[in-house]
Amino acid sequence: MQTFRAPLDATAVAALQRAANRELGLDLPIVCNHRGKQPPPAGTEHVPDAAALAEHECREAAVRFPIRARHRGQDPWLFLDLRNGRAKLRELARGRSVLNLFAYTCGAGVAAAVAGATLVWNVDFAPSALAVGRLAARRNEVASRCRFVRSDCLPVLRQLAGMPVQRRGSRVPFLRIEPRPFDLVVLDPPRFAKGAFGTVDVVRDYQTLCKPALLALAPGGAMLATNHVPEVAAADWHELLRRCAAKAGRPLRELEPIPVDGDFPSFDGRPPLKVALCRV
Ligand SMILES: C[S@@+](CC[C@H](N)C(=O)[O-])C[C@H]1O[C@@H](n2cnc3c(N)ncnc32)[C@H](O)[C@@H]1O
Repeated sequence: MQTFRAPLDATAVAALQRAANRELGLDLPIVCNHRGKQPPPAGTEHVPDAAALAEHECREAAVRFPIRARHRGQDPWLFLDLRNGRAKLRELARGRSVLNLFAYTCGAGVAAAVAGATLVWNVDFAPSALAVGRLAARRNEVASRCRFVRSDCLPVLRQLAGMPVQRRGSRVPFLRIEPRPFDLVVLDPPRFAKGAFGTVDVVRDYQTLCKPALLALAPGGAMLATNHVPEVAAADWHELLRRCAAKAGRPLRELEPIPVDGDFPSFDGRPPLKVALCRV
C-alpha cells in the first residue's frame, strides 16, 4: 500500500491487513509506504514484517515478475493497471519484433518476449529500472531475445523512424542507431519530462512521441499507446491519435481502446489510464 497525503498509523494498517486477509482468505502481510512530506507522528509508524520486505515474485498469466514492496524508487516495480495492455501484447507478440519505449522495469517487454516475440528492445534512461527488467527477462528465460537500451527515448525513437535527432547543443552525445521498423511499438510515456533531446508532454504535445512511434512501425504493425493524465478525455486523445497518424502518412486502420480491469474502478467513468491499440 502507498499513501501520498495523510499517513496511516500502525493501528490503521493492522486493521486494513485484517480486513484484506479476511476478504481474500489469505495470510498476507501489508507493507505500507508513505510517500508524502508529513511523516506519521513518532511512535505510531507501521513497521512491516521483515519477510514481507524481501524480494518476491508475482505471476501474471505465465509471466514471472520480481517484486519488492519497498525499494528506493516511488513506483511499484509492476504497474498493475496496465495488466490489460500486457494481455493484449501477449495476444499479438508471437513472431513479432517489439519496441518498448519508456520501458521502466520492462514489464510490457518481458510479457511480449514470454509470449513469443522474436526481439524486444526496452528503452529507458533509468539504469536501475532496466536492471529490474534484465532480472525479469532472466527469470523468464527470455534474456537472449531482449535488448536493454539505456538512453533517452527521443533520440532512439527519432533515429529508428528515420527522423533527425533534435538536441540542445551539438555536443550532447547520443547513441547512434540505424533506422529499422518494429511490428509492435509500446508507447507508455510519463506525463512530463524535460531533457536534452526535447520535452515529453503528454497533455500539450503527444504528437512529438506519436509521430515517430508510428513511423517506426512496419507495414501492418500496431502501436499500443497510453495516456495516464486524468484531465485528458479518452475521446479527445483518440481523436488526436487519429489526426496525428493521418498527418504522419500512417492513417489508422483501427483504434481499439483497451479498458482497464474492473479492479481499477473509476468513480466518474473516466479512468485516468487510457490505453489504445492503433493499427496502421
Ligand atoms: C510511466 S513509467 C513507464 C512504465 C512502463 N511502461 C511499464 O510498463 O511499467 C515512465 C518511465 O519513463 C522513463 N522516462 C521518462 N522520460 C524518459 C525519456 N525522455 N527517455 C527515456 N526514459 C524516460 C522513466 O525512467 C520511467 O521508467
